[in-house]
Amino acid sequence: MKNTLTFAVGAIALAAHLTAAAQTGPVKVGLMLPATGTFAALGDMIEKGFKLAIDEQGGKLGGREIQYFKVDDESDPSKATDNVNKLIKRDQVDVIIGTVHSGVALGMAKAAKDSNTLLIVPNAGADAVTGPMCAPNIFRSSFSNWQPGYATGGVAAQKGYKKAMPLTWNYAAGAETVKGFKEAFEKGGGKVTKDLNLPFPNVEFQALLTQIAAEKPDVVFAFFAGGGAVKFVKDYDAAGLRKTVPLMGSGFLTDGTLEAQGASAQGLITALHYGDEINTPRNNAFRNKFAVTYKANPDVYALQGYDAAQMLLAGANAVKGDVTGKRDALIAAMRKVQIDSPRGKFTLSPQHNPTQDFYIREVKGNYNVVTGIAVKALADPGRGCKM
Ligand code: BEZ
Repeated sequence: MKNTLTFAVGAIALAAHLTAAAQTGPVKVGLMLPATGTFAALGDMIEKGFKLAIDEQGGKLGGREIQYFKVDDESDPSKATDNVNKLIKRDQVDVIIGTVHSGVALGMAKAAKDSNTLLIVPNAGADAVTGPMCAPNIFRSSFSNWQPGYATGGVAAQKGYKKAMPLTWNYAAGAETVKGFKEAFEKGGGKVTKDLNLPFPNVEFQALLTQIAAEKPDVVFAFFAGGGAVKFVKDYDAAGLRKTVPLMGSGFLTDGTLEAQGASAQGLITALHYGDEINTPRNNAFRNKFAVTYKANPDVYALQGYDAAQMLLAGANAVKGDVTGKRDALIAAMRKVQIDSPRGKFTLSPQHNPTQDFYIREVKGNYNVVTGIAVKALADPGRGCKM
């Protein structure tokens, strides 16, 4: 009996020691982002932004070193569960940063919720992530799809357009962005007519452009991003439509794409929670540091990666790196933090989505120049979230 007791006490002491040791080893950070396909450049920018913010804090999280684990999600929703489980089950990471594609993010959010793994979404806008699928351990540093759609819809209505035709990829991001656009555009007196779409990541736009030329709406509202946005803006111009039917979009249409889009993008008006020329000391410092470090200009994706790290740092620093043992305190700190973002300061909604300003931007040269505010402090409604 005495021996059994001694063994049990010893085992408890050893377990406690191992837990303490685990909390002094590196924090395991899983990066699940696209490294291939039409969104590859977006994933690269997110990773660069994330690592820049971490480097600015001495390369540590709450005083602990970081060990990175990476998975290329290929922007393929059918592989999302297997891919995210490589990080959750195989690598046993403490936190996951990902991803870009809304369909993949839905699979990740389910796995994160089921396993109670901390997840920070640095782009994908799937409304459900901070709606019906919301959870204490799921955060977003970017936007909900509804937000930029709603902001752009208001700008289009203010411009006096009455008949709008949306055109997008047929998946959650496209459909939800169009829904947000329609809500604000119709509130402002406009009417959304025929909805045009094509499967993701298809870029054969010709038949749809022919339909636009025939229907002649007052404005086309497009959601595309990455390589698809480059091809769409060029094709729209080449079809001669730019002179007859104004093109607008949520800002992803022209973000990180302008060098490749060239003359075809000049003058395009979009709305987004970031712009290249927000002339504040905070944004200027971020842009200079990014340019010096990576020899490239940051875009909205780099910004969102940077702010995902700022959110994680706020939580990890509050618990001095004890990201597992003091998870509730880490989450509480993340929930109430005000992020000093280069986009402007923002807080999180009760569903953990940024409440933030949306800017009107106009393409001038290689920049999305901010020309005004579309909506101030726009909060996602968080419909369906029970937390
Ligand atoms: C999305 O799938 O949620 C998305 C992808 C690229 C840009 C913006 C949103």
